[in-house]
Amino acid sequence: MLLEKIKTPGLSHLSYLIGSGGQAAVIDPRRDCEIYVEKARAEGLAITHIFETHRNEDLVSGAPVLAGWTGAKVLHGPNPGGEVVYAETAREGDRFEIGQLVIEAMETPGHTDDNLAYVLHDREYPKGPVGVFTGDALFVGDVGRTDFYPDRKREVAGLLWDSLHKILALGDQTIIYPAHGAGSVCGSGMAEREFSTVGHERTNNPRLQFASRDAFIDFKVAENHYQPPYFRLMERLNLEGGTPAPRIARPSNLSLAQLRESNATHLVDIREPMAYASGRCCQSNRNLSPIGAAIPFPGLVQTIRFCHSVRAAERRVL
Ligand SMILES: [Fe+2]
Repeated sequence: MLLEKIKTPGLSHLSYLIGSGGQAAVIDPRRDCEIYVEKARAEGLAITHIFETHRNEDLVSGAPVLAGWTGAKVLHGPNPGGEVVYAETAREGDRFEIGQLVIEAMETPGHTDDNLAYVLHDREYPKGPVGVFTGDALFVGDVGRTDFYPDRKREVAGLLWDSLHKILALGDQTIIYPAHGAGSVCGSGMAEREFSTVGHERTNNPRLQFASRDAFIDFKVAENHYQPPYFRLMERLNLEGGTPAPRIARPSNLSLAQLRESNATHLVDIREPMAYASGRCCQSNRNLSPIGAAIPFPGLVQTIRFCHSVRAAERRVL
């Protein structure tokens, strides 16, 4: 079983790869999404589901790109303010199996109308949820901003209060996996720590200490968040799907026969020392540190990895 957080520096965006039983799901993928494919492949997992917690306003979702590469189904909440052309709608109580894990959709509007939390269950240990992907409803030490609907300030702040109490009802054992950490423009008081539980937030999160719904609403409508001008563009792209980011060309693998036919005059073997010692091709040289821990010429290694043939590597590096 796998649960890995992938952080995008700068945006403090947190996405997650989870896997079990040969299947994997990604929650809120970023746009440069090779990392999910590579990590899933390394674990022998096929990405079958992509879950979006809401129509993000501070980044362009990688969901349509990743779905195109993997054939995975994209799930998005109801009421996104337009048609999310690449996604199907998930609603309260919808359940999706990822191996022995179950992801259950829970509608948690307030930050946005479409915010979904995804509750994580482990069928082997059924007494209560293991975790919850909270999107921008609940962060560690903070809660989502509610200033995106200027004409409905009090209404949406109240919706967030209700959503937060749905999350709190999952039980204190529930680990929370938010979509952002400290430094994000989606909140102002997030903790430096990116791990917590419902129980810890219940007693420590300052935004969960208000005595009444009205007191919480009064606080939220008085907040003053900065809205960068690119927010509107991100929102539009996250409905339409946008244009995929250019990909770095990866070298194709050569068979031994292809290698022989390439007429290469030099070959640098970049495998680990033990692998090299166990058998090597032709008259290859391992031009790296014998202990394998420190690579003296990392640029050389990277260049060779990205070349399309040994001869190309030879031209560019040797
Ligand atoms: Fe957001």
